[in-house]
Amino acid sequence: MDKVLSVSGLKKYYEVKRSAFSYKKEIVRAVDGVDLSLERGQTLGIVGESGSGKSTLVRCIMLLEKPDVGDIVFSGVNFTKTNDNQLKRLRKDIQIIFQDPYSSLNPRLRIYDAIAEPVLFHNIAHDGDDARQRVTEILGSVGISEDFFQKYPHEMSGGQRQRVAIGRALATNPLLIVADEPVSSLDVSIQAQIINLFMDIKERTKISMLFISHDLNVVRFVSDEIMVMYKGRVVEQGKTDNIFYQPMHPYTQMLIDSIKGGFSSRAGDDNHAPTGCAYYPRCERRTSVCAEIAPELKDYDSGHMVACHAVHG
Ligand SMILES: Nc1ncnc2c1ncn2[C@@H]1O[C@H](COP(=O)(O)OP(=O)(O)OP(=O)(O)O)[C@@H](O)[C@H]1O
Ligand SMILES: [Mg+2]
Repeated sequence: MDKVLSVSGLKKYYEVKRSAFSYKKEIVRAVDGVDLSLERGQTLGIVGESGSGKSTLVRCIMLLEKPDVGDIVFSGVNFTKTNDNQLKRLRKDIQIIFQDPYSSLNPRLRIYDAIAEPVLFHNIAHDGDDARQRVTEILGSVGISEDFFQKYPHEMSGGQRQRVAIGRALATNPLLIVADEPVSSLDVSIQAQIINLFMDIKERTKISMLFISHDLNVVRFVSDEIMVMYKGRVVEQGKTDNIFYQPMHPYTQMLIDSIKGGFSSRAGDDNHAPTGCAYYPRCERRTSVCAEIAPELKDYDSGHMVACHAVHG
């Protein structure tokens, strides 16, 4: 299989003031040593609670943020050594979809023009007729009928706007789509429609996807694999069914329990010494070793990876 993306040892730390009234600084380890690899047509779901580093990870992958260390190789190009030509291609080959479609749609562009713009900019159509056909095709494929072509984003519902944003991402024939919480701002019934649209894209095209959500119930339907992040680190990764039906890490188990209605994590002081496991303060299964040594992400069973001392015994 073709490898589209491979990330290794990625770290991004921020120095932040503790409070508005203090000069004391602290380091936030937004992404703390993440590896991932993605094949053509594969969708990786990234889950984790707010602040776990999901957006920072993909912002680094899209070069919107410069990582402190780590390598990102996209379609054979190492990002740490890119030139401007490669960057332009990159802008075409990776597309992002945000939670709020307003951030990817120009409010002054009609829907038709919002799709025509990237088609023309990246020379995807040969002539005017070809461009028109392509725009019509793309909007049709995301479920937007011709009645909407001349409307502005504010004249549409949130779900329709997100469809247009997805169409705009598809317009450049990308290799990779990064969707950062693409359904979180939508009503549950509309969420299901948009998730179906992503599943449809997955079936129709060979586009790879990184699909971020804090909600495991959202990523499970679109993802081949799921990566669970906690405080900048990957605590568990594996095939979607394995993560869902055989979660091994206490944090993943807590996430699964919480969507099934139960809740088991203990509250804890999150600001403990950074040497041990980041989940230590909240963990049900912690032992003394967990306070001192950060567990490595290791194979538990044929590609199902877990970072937990209790699991690896
Ligand atoms: N530009 C920045 N400056 C300082 N700290 C930042 C910056 N960007 C992110 N952080 C911090 O890095 C950590 C990870 O943030 P990030 O936005 O990547 O999390 P997330 O998993 O996407 O969360 P959410 O689900 O809320 O979107 C957080 O503690 C956040 O406050
Ligand atoms: Mg985020």
